[in-house]
Amino acid sequence: PTSDIGLIGLAVMGQNLVLNMADHGFDVAVYNRTTSVMEDFIKEVEAEQPSASRVHGHAELADFVASIKCPRKIVLMVQSTAVASTDRDAVDKVTDQLEPLLQEGDLIIDGGNSNWNATIRREKEYAAKGIRFFGSGVSGGELGARFGPSLMPGGDPEAWESLKPIWEAIAAKVDRETGKPIERFDPSNPVTLEEGEPCTGYIGANGAGHYVKMVHNGIEYIDMQLICEAYFLMKQLIGMQPDEMSQVFARWNEGDLDSFLIEITTDILQQRDPTDPSRFFVDVVLDTAGQKGTGKWTSISALDMGIPANAMAEAVFARCLSAIKDERVAASEVLRGPAEAVDFGDQGEFIENIREALYCSKICAYAQGFQLMREAQNEFDWDLDFGQIAAMFRGGCIIRARFLQKITDAYAEDPKLANLLLNDYFNEAVNKGQAAWRKVVSLAVLNGVAVPAFASALAYFDSYRTATLPQNLLQAQRDYFGAHTYERVDRPRGEKFHVDWPEENRPQLTL
Ligand code: 6PG
Repeated sequence: PTSDIGLIGLAVMGQNLVLNMADHGFDVAVYNRTTSVMEDFIKEVEAEQPSASRVHGHAELADFVASIKCPRKIVLMVQSTAVASTDRDAVDKVTDQLEPLLQEGDLIIDGGNSNWNATIRREKEYAAKGIRFFGSGVSGGELGARFGPSLMPGGDPEAWESLKPIWEAIAAKVDRETGKPIERFDPSNPVTLEEGEPCTGYIGANGAGHYVKMVHNGIEYIDMQLICEAYFLMKQLIGMQPDEMSQVFARWNEGDLDSFLIEITTDILQQRDPTDPSRFFVDVVLDTAGQKGTGKWTSISALDMGIPANAMAEAVFARCLSAIKDERVAASEVLRGPAEAVDFGDQGEFIENIREALYCSKICAYAQGFQLMREAQNEFDWDLDFGQIAAMFRGGCIIRARFLQKITDAYAEDPKLANLLLNDYFNEAVNKGQAAWRKVVSLAVLNGVAVPAFASALAYFDSYRTATLPQNLLQAQRDYFGAHTYERVDRPRGEKFHVDWPEENRPQLTL
């Protein structure tokens, strides 16, 4: 055997991970169900890639397996569709085919966006057969996979030790002092481990890596939605053109909001329509969002565990609402918004208010994501290191941002931090921005511009900081119609009471 690692599934993410590993000096065996895909890839690699001699194609699965050094490490980059832990999909199919060819101690790494429940099941099922099944989140899109993704591995800790050198080598790197991503898109001169801290690390047992990757995606959804709402306000209320907004985003990218998603928004907004350069590209893109499910899973998990990740769920619903385009078009003919426009005042000041609203909302969204992971670790018996997770998100992944250094610092200061909002930096940031945030949400509401993420993040903030919410009345209602009982403010928590609400004893209203 000559290869250090094998990879199955040569769609673009798989191909780019192979090249990334080869650039870092690893010999990689590759296999694809449709052999011609593998052959085309090898031809392309030979023609174009400096590390071509390290990529080895195999048409037969048995040859592929036999060519990998033991204990074997085989990465699967095949699309997973399983949602319930009992579902079986392409990942199980490939693993089942591999199983008779593997030896005790070999390691399978699922690098797809698999559901964590399926990963928990697989880890257990294959462990019983002597195979170590690992689930690793891979984030960063095509470019990330090629030059440095953020990698979130979960599974048997011993198995991690054998994967670690490769995962650390190919992961994105951040500067050890500043936490800033070190980016170099040069296959013959890849960023090395000596240059920076790798955006990977052992997350936890069985499905922990896939869970954290899913929450990353849930945060990705809300981050994107918040940017879209800022854009929408500038478009609808101020009437700005995309290239003008691009300049605003470019400016924002120099401060606290500095992030990959703001950066690509800056680029997108100045892009012209390829078929008609007199128009802006963004203006010809249909406003119906797609989604593959990870944002939805995040929200379902939040609902299952009773964690108030409302801004994240809003981001999913915003995509759903956008998707019912025909219905919206019809409704726009019938339903009217406010009769009069409410003035937003000085344009420059209002844009600055939008920036502050975006930052405050973003803080709440991340607070929700981390609360979700905190609950999940109890639910699934993981021991997550939130500082390390935030550190891993600093480079390579889609949500990479300057802001993640602040989260890393917050957890370094207090690893048991109950909510990001309670950290001094974030508390002050929201305090400073909240007047602007409230003004933006109010003006949006008064003018009939939907800002579901800004508004729900604000509702989260206001609810979270309120010692007494109106659910006293709700509990009374529940007790009234369903004898669901209630607790009292003047008695210890947990003691249940019930008022007998028979017809005759009902207090009479005196008007
Ligand atoms: C990443 C991304 C990636 C995901 C897309 C698609 O971290 O690189 O999260 O894994 O495929 O972002 O998500 P939707 O199609 O659901 O928008």
